[in-house]
Amino acid sequence: MTKITNIQPDMSVGYESAKVPQSLMNSSRKEFGKNGCPKLRLEVKEGKIPLDLQGHVFIVSPVGFEDSTYGKGLAVFNGDGMIYRLDLDMQGEVYLKTELARTPCFYADFAIQKQHPTQSRYRFYNWGLMRYSLILGLRDSLNTAFLPMPFLDKGEERLLVTYDAGRPYEIDTESLKVITPAGSNREWRSAIPIKQPFPAHLSTAHPTFDAVTGEMFTVNYGRSVINLLDTIPSFEKLNELPDDIEDLLSAIARLFGREFLQPLFQETRQVFEAIFNLVEKSVEAIVGIEVPNFVYLMRWDGNGDMERWRLVLSDGSPVKIEQSVHQIGVTKDYIVLIDTAFKVGVEQLLNNPFPDNEPLEKSFRVLLTRPQSPDSNIYIVRRRDLINGQRPAACDTEVTIVAKKVILPLESIHFLTDYDNPDSNITLHIAHNCATDVSEVVRAYDESAYQPGRSLPSRLDGMLAIGQMDVNRLGRYKINGETGAIVDSQVIHDDRITFGVGLYTYRERLPSGEFPTKIENIYWHSWGFWEELMPKFIFDLYKDYKHRMLGEEVMRNLPNQKPKPVYLFRVETETMEFADAYEFPISYMISSPQFVPRKDGTGSSTDGYILCTVLTPESETQDEIWIFDADKLAQGPLSKLTHPLFKVGYTLHTTWLPTISPRKASYCIPVKEDYQALVNNADETVRELFERDIYPHFENK
Ligand SMILES: [Fe+2]
Repeated sequence: MTKITNIQPDMSVGYESAKVPQSLMNSSRKEFGKNGCPKLRLEVKEGKIPLDLQGHVFIVSPVGFEDSTYGKGLAVFNGDGMIYRLDLDMQGEVYLKTELARTPCFYADFAIQKQHPTQSRYRFYNWGLMRYSLILGLRDSLNTAFLPMPFLDKGEERLLVTYDAGRPYEIDTESLKVITPAGSNREWRSAIPIKQPFPAHLSTAHPTFDAVTGEMFTVNYGRSVINLLDTIPSFEKLNELPDDIEDLLSAIARLFGREFLQPLFQETRQVFEAIFNLVEKSVEAIVGIEVPNFVYLMRWDGNGDMERWRLVLSDGSPVKIEQSVHQIGVTKDYIVLIDTAFKVGVEQLLNNPFPDNEPLEKSFRVLLTRPQSPDSNIYIVRRRDLINGQRPAACDTEVTIVAKKVILPLESIHFLTDYDNPDSNITLHIAHNCATDVSEVVRAYDESAYQPGRSLPSRLDGMLAIGQMDVNRLGRYKINGETGAIVDSQVIHDDRITFGVGLYTYRERLPSGEFPTKIENIYWHSWGFWEELMPKFIFDLYKDYKHRMLGEEVMRNLPNQKPKPVYLFRVETETMEFADAYEFPISYMISSPQFVPRKDGTGSSTDGYILCTVLTPESETQDEIWIFDADKLAQGPLSKLTHPLFKVGYTLHTTWLPTISPRKASYCIPVKEDYQALVNNADETVRELFERDIYPHFENK
């Protein structure tokens, strides 16, 4: 397989377009392995289950909410987190256990829906990718990823489940139950600084853990109103608004109780000002005061208080996050943050507040959607500078630390770092999601990018708009951690294999239990081309992409070109070559690849298996697990597992643990103590809600 494929558009016609599997829009909330319901034994559909599988694969996925069904208009990334665990130690059999991530806000949401249906002012509503209550605050859905924390010296395998807009929570690996957040509410700072019971803690879905030092690192950040306003695109777009702009603005004013603003909206010439005020006042109405920029790097030893440092640049100005910090990385001497191409933040609260009102929703989308930054802002922190940070549980005095900023061309969501950093050179392995916006979803009214005047299938309302607008790329960079100089870079692509790079996996554990210091092989999956998932709105948003490789005309003709299916592939990081790849059949969709080391195998980075979830056109509800030999992807799956009750939808990140056991660690944030300061000032309904519907679920914590 060559390193780079020439991109020669195939303009012939007659290819059948891939159809998005219907099972993508179906996801079950049923829990297996609890309350008398046994674990689900997956059935072998094809092949044989390898006898030297071992350990436990964890998968997490949003599965909608009690009042908003997954796949029925709800943004696919918005939903309660369902934790899946595949138990692989029974030779020739694979069992599934599942558990919803039941946080205090989960119980609040549930209780408001079921027990207080008339209390609409307290209800949580779906706002874009987030779920928010104007009174109660932001749901911490815990639906995105995991972080294993193997405290090797204590023999503890601890596990966090994570979300971009909330504190990570530790779960019990045996029962899968949510045990405790990492850090109390006092130790985290809200992006919306008023006392709401459930603060908006913007964080990273991929914190990182140094198994050598036993330290976990994460971030906690906020973005200012000015920064938020910066997300609004050119006001030339006002021309694209529907005629009912005054109705829109009036409705917004009513929503936030700002009737007095209405006169401002009477004159068209005042629209600019009105929009500005709209956002400013709306945010003010929510937050009460201006939201500052802040970025804290947080360190935790798994037992004591959180320690944090506020990041500033060398001139003393605060580090400003423009988009999100979906992932961070740790090396022996450095911490690496990337401002990632995934639009998460307070603007999501304004992104889709009127899901039942199409004209209003369209207006908000036009006003508030901008393309992602085409470049990556990287921030590097020296670990040796992390001395005596602020412990916010006990001290209000902040400690600042300087981060070095490096700008890389091309955007990214995911990256990995080698632990070793010889000569202070950090090795980054990055997936560049070029003109690929995974924070946008298909909406029911969306017009096809390829068939003017025709709508996209309504059954895909809420699905990721993964019609990427350029070929994606994979990069390996060496960046000097002291100077910020880019010492070496190599960027590869293939117009089929990297057409939309999704999630990754690699061998994280050696037979000794230790972690490799250098990543030799990385497995990725690609999304392929789906005509049904490309709205005209997204096409137009990214057609002028700065780093375009495939021309706009090529993009326009994709439906008539040879199909670009989904791939599972391996990249050798030393040579930066595509070393192995499997091409899935047309209309198959996959996610959640996970490397599982072969039992009694070698320490080779390819000696094991890759498991992934597979959605097929063969069933409208039932999904599958496919198992590949990690060293022979091209030969196809060794085994396909399924069950009529295995319905997962679009699953996200994974991890693998060699063993599970009831949690032994003593660290636990008592729930009542954690929330009481936030609840004391709330009204009686909220206080009653906590006493009656939340605290009893955590009486022993
Ligand atoms: Fe991720």
